[in-house]
Amino acid sequence: MDKDKLLLTRLSTLLNITLLLTIGIFIALAAVHFGAFTFSNPTSADAIIKEVITPYWHPPSLNEIPSNEEGDLIRYGRELIMHTSVYLGPKGTVKPSSNGMNCRNCHLDGGTKTFGYNYSAVAATYPQLRKRSNTIIDVKERINECIERSLNGTRLQQGDIELDAMAAYILWLGKDVPKGQIPEGAGMKTLVLLDRPADPVKGKIVFDQHCVECHGANSEGEMESNGLEWKYPPVFGNHSYNVGAGLYRLEKFASFVKYNMPFGISYESPVLTDEEAWDVAAYVNSMPHPAKDISADWPDITLKPFDHPFGPFADNWSEERHKYGPFIK
Ligand code: HEC
Ligand code: HEC
Repeated sequence: MDKDKLLLTRLSTLLNITLLLTIGIFIALAAVHFGAFTFSNPTSADAIIKEVITPYWHPPSLNEIPSNEEGDLIRYGRELIMHTSVYLGPKGTVKPSSNGMNCRNCHLDGGTKTFGYNYSAVAATYPQLRKRSNTIIDVKERINECIERSLNGTRLQQGDIELDAMAAYILWLGKDVPKGQIPEGAGMKTLVLLDRPADPVKGKIVFDQHCVECHGANSEGEMESNGLEWKYPPVFGNHSYNVGAGLYRLEKFASFVKYNMPFGISYESPVLTDEEAWDVAAYVNSMPHPAKDISADWPDITLKPFDHPFGPFADNWSEERHKYGPFIK
């Protein structure tokens, strides 16, 4: 075969391949367009919450709280979220039922901060099927879960005005969100998963550099001058959240910290890298936290999130791997 002929044959093969590829792509696009493939696999939870993300949420102005009895309840609820411990802490004026932390220590700015575990989605998505308990829960039950776990305390009772008030405030905050929708900035912002286990030793270095200044080397924190609530809350030890709390899961901790700590930053100005956030989460959650009997959680183990650190599991990963990763399959 002479040189020119060879070139021509090669060119026509190339053309054929390109043509075939183009036809292939066209067929695939048409199939997607006419719904030949479905990508979602709705669960019973999706039937209750339609996870439609609406981008815009600004909390209503506090001036909008009505000047009537209902408004008084909402205002009391906000006060309880901001200064929980003054009323419900170990020396609380209402009744001691929690560990001294305030709801707003995690639900930043009174539950209004973007990616600061805000309450924007609550009014629109509760009551909802809670996968952890496999039951339908309302807002008050969800509040009690945080009291029992994040505040390592004792649940409030139906009829307690404090429970009514916190629920009233939280529902008022989300009153303008269309039913079933979850605004952008609710919950957590996802992080890049590491291809190695998160490392408590590296995490301690991050902690010493970026966290000790406020939270203290042994997580001793610092009290406000009123002696009733924290200025800088502890992140591990007897006064911190227990092992059944959301923050005891690595991803929830890492995401919260990346987009909110050191205190004062926002999701638009993170200081830690994803890697540092995972490692500092591993360090803090490798340190002691109060115990909690959570044997009744996750009756359906196939629904356990990947970073739930207690077995039994539906897969063959160890508890160690479910706690620290790597979470990449
Ligand atoms: C400048 C002080 C400051 C620094 C530095 C700081 N924090 Fe915080 N942190 C706070 C304050 C204040 C709160 C409570 C916020 C509130 O109540 O409004 C908080 C809350 C928290 C919480 C939730 C409540 C709790 O105690 O469990 C965690 C977790 C946390 N910080 C982790 C960290 C980590 C990890 C670092 C280092 C990467 C860090 N923080 C750096 C001041 C700080
Ligand atoms: C130590 C941190 C921490 C403290 C303190 C805390 N929570 Fe939570 N709370 C969480 C985390 C983490 C979640 C789960 C958020 C998620 O999964 O997106 C959560 C979720 C919630 C939700 C459901 C939000 C939603 O969109 O589904 C409510 C309501 C709530 N908390 C109320 C409270 C109340 C009221 C208090 C105080 C009595 C409180 N929390 C104290 C960490 C905390």
